[in-house]
Amino acid sequence: MNDALLAARDLRVRFGGVLAVNNVSFDVRRGEVFTLIGPNGAGKTTVFNLISRIYDLTSGSLEFDGQVLHKVPPHQVASLGIARTFQNIELFEHATVLQNLLIGRHICRRTGIWKELIFSRGVRQAERDTRRKVEEVIDLLELQHYRDALVAGLPYGVRKVVELARALCTEPKLLLLDEPSSGLNVEETEDMAFWIQDIRRDLGVTILMVEHDMALVSKVSDRVLAMNQGEVLAVGSPAEVQRDQGVVEAYLGSVDDVASLRRENHGEAA
Ligand SMILES: Nc1ncnc2c1ncn2[C@@H]1O[C@H](COP(=O)(O)OP(=O)(O)OP(=O)(O)O)[C@@H](O)[C@H]1O
Ligand SMILES: [Mg+2]
Repeated sequence: MNDALLAARDLRVRFGGVLAVNNVSFDVRRGEVFTLIGPNGAGKTTVFNLISRIYDLTSGSLEFDGQVLHKVPPHQVASLGIARTFQNIELFEHATVLQNLLIGRHICRRTGIWKELIFSRGVRQAERDTRRKVEEVIDLLELQHYRDALVAGLPYGVRKVVELARALCTEPKLLLLDEPSSGLNVEETEDMAFWIQDIRRDLGVTILMVEHDMALVSKVSDRVLAMNQGEVLAVGSPAEVQRDQGVVEAYLGSVDDVASLRRENHGEAA
């Protein structure tokens, strides 16, 4: 049996003269946390945009759960079981937390317009399922206190958790997290690590993450893929990848990242 939930083969994307992603292949196995690292501009978010079908491949292929993904229209990606968060939080700022989660859920519900109009038993059942799922996610991520608050008035760290919650409400098989710790303080980053571990363990969701904080990467990742200038440098356990000479050299251009990498290699607290 093939244990790959997502299979990426020879991914290539060209933007004008720039090969933003070149010959990138990897598998994300069912149940794992797989993390993409690399300096700024390496092509990590572009890989996410290929999987979300925001960008078309120049060449290569993507298979998700045994189906061809790279030809699926973008609006069908959520209903296949893929959800994501964004490097810059994307929420409805002038809606409440609860409304954002309900909207997230409705995007992937498929009851059909005629059923909606007559409000059939199927629709009522779907509505009950939606409420139950949303409440479950609110409990899991401890958002009870913020349920009726407007997103615009919430601290950044809470909005980050709300975005994660919204993605989970679609009941994804694969969750894409683009820099879950960016903008968070040390304590919030530790909380984020717990949420990621809980989501994988309690909900059985497979996670593909992009992250710069090497302490978080080492704590939660089963495997890591390092990229630079659109290409794969190394794949392996967090420790293996951080020791890789090509990876260390690629990071030398990025002072913050190399400091974080060194701390991790020497076992110091971040
Ligand atoms: N829509 C686009 N049009 C043109 N160039 C793009 C586009 N999207 C990304 N790029 C280029 O592709 C390269 C990879 O960008 P990408 O955003 O994937 O990097 P990243 O690894 O996510 O970096 P960061 O860590 O800064 O988020 C960059 O050179 C970027 O300028
Ligand atoms: Mg990015």
